[in-house]
Amino acid sequence: MAATVETKRFQRPAITPQPTQRRRRGTTAGIFGIGAALPDRVVTNADLEQRLDTTDEWIVRRTGIRERRHLAPDEPLADLAARACLLALDDAGRSGAEVDQVIVSTITPDRVTPGLAPEVARIIGAHRASAVDVNAACAGFLYALDQAAALIESGRASVVLVCGAEALSRITDHDDRSTAVIFGDGAGAVVVAGGDLELGIGGFVLGADGEQADLLYAERDEQVLRMEGREVYRHAVRRMVGASREALERAGCTVDDIDLFVAHQANARIIDSAAAELGLPREKVAINVDRTANTSSASIPLALARAEEDGMLFPGATVALAAFGAGFVWGAGVVSWKERRQACA
Ligand code: ACO
Repeated sequence: MAATVETKRFQRPAITPQPTQRRRRGTTAGIFGIGAALPDRVVTNADLEQRLDTTDEWIVRRTGIRERRHLAPDEPLADLAARACLLALDDAGRSGAEVDQVIVSTITPDRVTPGLAPEVARIIGAHRASAVDVNAACAGFLYALDQAAALIESGRASVVLVCGAEALSRITDHDDRSTAVIFGDGAGAVVVAGGDLELGIGGFVLGADGEQADLLYAERDEQVLRMEGREVYRHAVRRMVGASREALERAGCTVDDIDLFVAHQANARIIDSAAAELGLPREKVAINVDRTANTSSASIPLALARAEEDGMLFPGATVALAAFGAGFVWGAGVVSWKERRQACA
C-alpha cells in the first residue's frame, strides 16, 4: 500500500514556475499612503555659479537640475525623515502605533550607529515597531519596498513604513563641480499594507554587481562621493532598461499598460534615455530632478509624491519603478498606485 502511494507521488507532473503569474495566495502588499519632506534651504544653480566654475545653462542642459535642497548643519536627517513618515501615515489613515516595522533606506544616517530607523520610529510614535536601515544607495528605496512587501505577504507584518531619506550634501565635495551640482537632500515615505489587490506591489527585479564598486563610492575616511559620471550614466541606462523589461514580463504587463514611469531622479537625460529605450512617451515619465537634484534613495518617493500632486497619479494607476546606484545595485518593479483606500484589518 505504502509503495503505491510513493509511486503516485513520483508520477505527479512537475510544477513549472510561471514567471508572468503573481503568487495569488493570501494578501497582496500595496501602497496606501505617501509623504514627502524637503529641507527649507534652497540652493539654486545661480548660487553654485557664485562658487564653482559652472553655469546654470550647463547644469540644466546636462542634468535637468535647476535647484536642490540642503539640510542645515544642525538639522537631523531623522527629523526630516519623520516628517515624511508622518505625512505618509496621515495619508493612509494610520498612526505610528499601528506600524510593525520601519525601514529607512539611507547612505547618510546622522550617526555611524545607531541607524536612522530607530530614531524615526521614536519620533513618529511607532513604539511597538521594529526598525532597520537599508543601505543600497539610489536603489535602496526599491530594495526596502521589496522587503516590506515580503513582510506583508508572508504575514510577518501588517503595516510597514518604507522611507528613503538622504543628506547627500553632507557627503559631497562642494569644490568638485562634477558632483557638487548634482546631489541634494530630502525624504519620502510610503505606507505598505496588505489588501485584496489585483497588482499591489508586484515582484521586484533586483540586481547587484560589486565588480563596478570603484565607479561610484565614498570612502569612510574621506566621506565624499566620488564618481566616474560618464560610466555610471551608461550602466544606469542599461541596467534600468533591462530590469524594467524583466519586471514588466514578470508582472504580465506591456509598456502600453504603464500609466507612469518613475525612475531614480539622478539626471533627466538618463531618465529620458531609459524611457525612450522602453518605448514610453514623454507624458508618462515623471521628472522631479529639476527641483530636488539627485537625492539617492529619497528620489523615487519624492517623485511619486510630486506626480500625485500634479495629477499624474490616480488610484489604480500602473506605475513602473526603476533605480540604479552605487554598488552597483539596481532594481525595477511594477506597482499599482493606492489600488484600494482601505487595507486589510
Ligand atoms: N559645469 C561645467 N562643466 C562641467 C561640470 C559642471 N558642473 N561638470 C563637469 N563639467 C565638464 C567636465 O569637466 C567635462 O569637461 P571636458 O570635456 O573639458 O573634460 C565636460 O563637462 C563633460 O563632462 P562629463 O562628465 O562627460 O559630463 P556628462 O554629460 O557625463 O555629465 C554627469 C556629468 C551629470 C555627472 C553625468 O555623467 C551623470 O549624471 N552621471 C550619472 C549620475 C548617476 O546616475 N549616479 C547614480 C546614482 S548616485 C548614487 O548612487 C549616490
